[in-house]
Amino acid sequence: MGAAFRLLLVPLMAVAFCSYDVGGRSHYHKKPPPSSRHRGGGGGGGGKGGGDSAGSVVPPVDDDTQPPPPTGIVPSDPATSEPCVFDVRAYGAVGDGSTDDTRAFQEAWRAACDADSAVILVPSDGTFTITTTTFSGPCKPGLVFQVDGVLMPPDGPECWPPSDNRRQWLVFSNVDGLTLRGAGTIEGNGENWWNLPCKPHRLVRFFMSRNLAVEGLRVENSPEFHFRFDGCSDVRVDGLFISSPANSPNTDGIHVENTERVAIYNSRISNGGIGSLGVHNSQACVSSVTVRNAVIRNSDNGVRIKTWQGGMGSVSGISFDTVVMENVRNCIIIDQYYCMEKRCMNQSTAVHVTDVSYANIRGSYDVRSAPIHFACSDTVPCTNITMAEVELLPFSGELVDDPFCWSAYGMQQTPTIPPITCLQEGIPDSLLDNPDLKCR
Ligand SMILES: *[C@@H]1O[C@H](CO)[C@@H](O)[C@H](O)[C@H]1NC(C)=O
Ligand SMILES: *[C@@H]1O[C@H](CO)[C@@H](O)[C@H](O)[C@H]1NC(C)=O
Repeated sequence: MGAAFRLLLVPLMAVAFCSYDVGGRSHYHKKPPPSSRHRGGGGGGGGKGGGDSAGSVVPPVDDDTQPPPPTGIVPSDPATSEPCVFDVRAYGAVGDGSTDDTRAFQEAWRAACDADSAVILVPSDGTFTITTTTFSGPCKPGLVFQVDGVLMPPDGPECWPPSDNRRQWLVFSNVDGLTLRGAGTIEGNGENWWNLPCKPHRLVRFFMSRNLAVEGLRVENSPEFHFRFDGCSDVRVDGLFISSPANSPNTDGIHVENTERVAIYNSRISNGGIGSLGVHNSQACVSSVTVRNAVIRNSDNGVRIKTWQGGMGSVSGISFDTVVMENVRNCIIIDQYYCMEKRCMNQSTAVHVTDVSYANIRGSYDVRSAPIHFACSDTVPCTNITMAEVELLPFSGELVDDPFCWSAYGMQQTPTIPPITCLQEGIPDSLLDNPDLKCR
């Protein structure tokens, strides 16, 4: 899924160097200073480590009056419980924008993974280039990956090492309780990939992991998806800013697959949508997704759920709550006929979309499409769609008071603008006891 926002922003110019310096790997052998490697450095060294870490692990907040974040490290008694900071520079990372710092990051991860409440620090005054890397757990609890500087892959296919996996870049696998956060930027350097048929599908991937938090980061210009959560549970995204330009294809914000209990708050995310699900007759199960307090501007799609025909399973318990639209086409869209090819045959199975609530969705639409669009399957209609306080008006031009609505069941709790009269009552017989739609 993704919270689906295409922001028309001028992309930041990437700090991009093609000829990153493989020789830089030799830097990694520098021994980290003890104070940054181990808690308190065995006593005396703790002063520096404590002071630095307390300052550096505080996530970005606009205003100092905010309470600390839920997963924040509270520096209490510095002698006993200061977080263990693993600065990647202490492991030889150079951060000059061109040196390959992969090895240093791997070393820092390995050390931090074995320490309780460790912080891997990507410091704010550097631009660090690493190649495709999998950071694997299991790790000790409370691990924080703190990006305060810039972290990026090599710039485009020319620079991607031939031996590296080209399908993904940063992978976190088999971790429980990881927080990825910081005041810095993950720069995807995607521009040179966008016109190619094959490109890294995901910039940052979480695989088979639990209790994840992503907080306060800026992530931009991914070759394709910015984030992918796959086989995960209990994911909290807060204060994330994802941005890629409008002409970048398929740069989904957050792609969620086989993952339960996802909440996205206070985030601005470029492009994406829930789905696409059920490709190649696969089973899809997505449940309990909340998107709140989002702003969507100048986008092709607003809050969107899309599934392929021929799939199985269900998308259920999806809540879109308090979303402001500004000049958005298809503000609210469910598409069970999603298809990337020109012609897709109609098929008799589909991923069931049910228990979807839209509450407090306001703002303006681009009049070139109907602001509300429910294109559900004949055989597997969408059910239990609830709408409350949906008020959408033209950004400019004439009202489009003719929402598109096909095979959709549900109710309006308050009258919508534009009015929706097509939601049907009840549950169609075809759905009762259909085993293909069951998720576990
Ligand atoms: C598939 O079904 C939809 C809805 O019934 C219809 O609009 C569309 O033309 C059909 N497509 C094909 C290729 O038969
Ligand atoms: C309809 O969906 C809502 C969540 O949007 C859920 O709370 C409710 O139980 C569902 N109703 C039925 C009859 O399943």
